[in-house]
Amino acid sequence: MAKIVDISRDANFIEETLAVLERGECVAMPTETVYGLAADATNGLAVARIFEMKGRPQFNPLIAHVGSLSMARKHGVFGEVAEKLATAFWPGPLTLVLPRKPDSAVHDLAMAGLSTIAIRIPRGPAREIIAEFDRPLAVPSANRSGRISPTTAGHVAEEFADVDLLVLDNGPCKVGLESTIVKVLPDSLVLLRPGAITDSELGAVTDLPVRRPDGLGGIEAPGMLASHYAPRAQMRLNVTECPQGAGLIAFGSGTDRQREAASQVLNLSVDGDLKEAAANLYRHMKALDALGLPLICVEPVPTTGIGAAINDRLTRAAAPRAS
Ligand code: TXA
Ligand code: MG
Repeated sequence: MAKIVDISRDANFIEETLAVLERGECVAMPTETVYGLAADATNGLAVARIFEMKGRPQFNPLIAHVGSLSMARKHGVFGEVAEKLATAFWPGPLTLVLPRKPDSAVHDLAMAGLSTIAIRIPRGPAREIIAEFDRPLAVPSANRSGRISPTTAGHVAEEFADVDLLVLDNGPCKVGLESTIVKVLPDSLVLLRPGAITDSELGAVTDLPVRRPDGLGGIEAPGMLASHYAPRAQMRLNVTECPQGAGLIAFGSGTDRQREAASQVLNLSVDGDLKEAAANLYRHMKALDALGLPLICVEPVPTTGIGAAINDRLTRAAAPRAS
């Protein structure tokens, strides 16, 4: 059984969390992006527990979450470009993929054998916990591998209903989508996962071109599997005619006829606000999926700003499944 602790009412949550982490066990904790499943990144057994709990393939590396830039510099090689990005966006929803320091204490298992390390400083209580713990935490999203990331403590408790797990509750996540992941090269940036920090923000801070992975170095984004974030229902995107009885994820104030045909409509943002839409996306996908409908339709969502990340997640959710 998951144990949910409301951190606004429990002054001891940091000590309780540190004790669990010291034992090499996992704790679910809020970040500004999504809820994560955290364990000591320097402890191989603790990292192995994360892979086991998530059912995650071991070739898929984890992000080292750190409490400060000085902690980050112990594990990744920070050139001028990485320093600029960290200064501009940390703490915040940006993960940097950097060459790994040879003497980094982060366990090999967390890095899945790569010579690079993914690092970020999260916003909120997770950062405080890591600073107190004084070493990095490996923190993937707190869902079973391939499923929708949790944006509330309740989502986490449902996902791991059969596991003894401490879940720190800090309310719904502000951003709602996983961090932007960028690989930092001397003369360019490679956007491995779009998120709240956009291409144009990355370009503006660094004066460098931001490109997509070329697909040749398949290892560059091992976690970017085509089918991901998948609900049980089939997903259909950019729908303008929703079949009778399907679930519908709407966007904007339209009063299209398709909204009447749907058996249930949840709106990402009546005002057409993309940030609000990002924060609501996974919650709405989960809510419609819980109704057991065979099909979830989604109205078109613009690709500007964080809309690119919303459409990235929707495309993966709608992709054909392996089984
Ligand atoms: O917002 C987030 O980043 C959340 C919260 C909890 O912090 N965490 C998260 O972790 O989304 P996860 O494990 O669900 O996704 C991490 C992604 C995976 O796609 C993984 O393949 C990629 O980061 N990754 C990790 N290390 C990498 C590396 N060295 N090179 C390329 N990709 C890497
Ligand atoms: Mg994930």
